Amino acid sequence: MPYILILYYSRYGATAEMAHQVARGVEEVSGIEARLRTVPTVSTVCEAVEDSIPKEGAPYASLDDLRHCAGLALGSPTRFGNMAAPMKYFLDGTSTLWMGGDLIGRPAGVFTTSSSLHGGQEATLLSMMLPLLHQGMLLVGLPYSETDLLRTSSGGTPYGPSHLAGPESNLPQTEEEKRLCMALGKRLARTALALNRAR
Ligand SMILES: Cc1cc2nc3c(=O)[nH]c(=O)nc-3n(C[C@H](O)[C@H](O)[C@H](O)COP(=O)(O)O)c2cc1C
Repeated sequence: MPYILILYYSRYGATAEMAHQVARGVEEVSGIEARLRTVPTVSTVCEAVEDSIPKEGAPYASLDDLRHCAGLALGSPTRFGNMAAPMKYFLDGTSTLWMGGDLIGRPAGVFTTSSSLHGGQEATLLSMMLPLLHQGMLLVGLPYSETDLLRTSSGGTPYGPSHLAGPESNLPQTEEEKRLCMALGKRLARTALALNRAR
């Protein structure tokens, strides 16, 4: 069964919630499934290592999870207008996939959370697209036919879904934010299946 890899990092849980909504969207499309994976935190102490299995939530992603995905949804909290270091660290370890051209032609989309409304969601989403373009992936955003984009007063952008988590990182997702996550999942799933058929 082909799958959309939903690869995310989340420290306080907001990005993880978004990942589950993206998965719901993928699961609405028959013939393809969602695979949720996360990445370990990184430490300023170089010798520190994480357990190989996280205490809760999705398993850690392997390079093979990425190599064999039909499509990718990449999620990260906003950190100074950029993706979080653990996600960047994981992506920096994917040069063997880049050299092999493994991800060329696969669809990909991005999602993020932030504490403040104008705290850099779009900048983060755009920065997350750059390594995916280097990998040859085909970027999928959200079209304005998703009318929640016009109505939302919190997260949600044409570059990808986003969520305003608030200063304590604990605001629940709004209905618009949830639907936009699902729309990305559905769009990635349909695009991946169409591309598979065209091969
Ligand atoms: C080092 C650091 C930098 C951050 N930078 C920003 C920022 O630039 N803009 C913003 O709105 N929030 C910023 N935040 C808040 C996070 O985006 C917020 O905690 C995140 O959305 C929570 O996601 P999570 O629950 O998935 O960990 C930052 C948080 C940390 C720890």
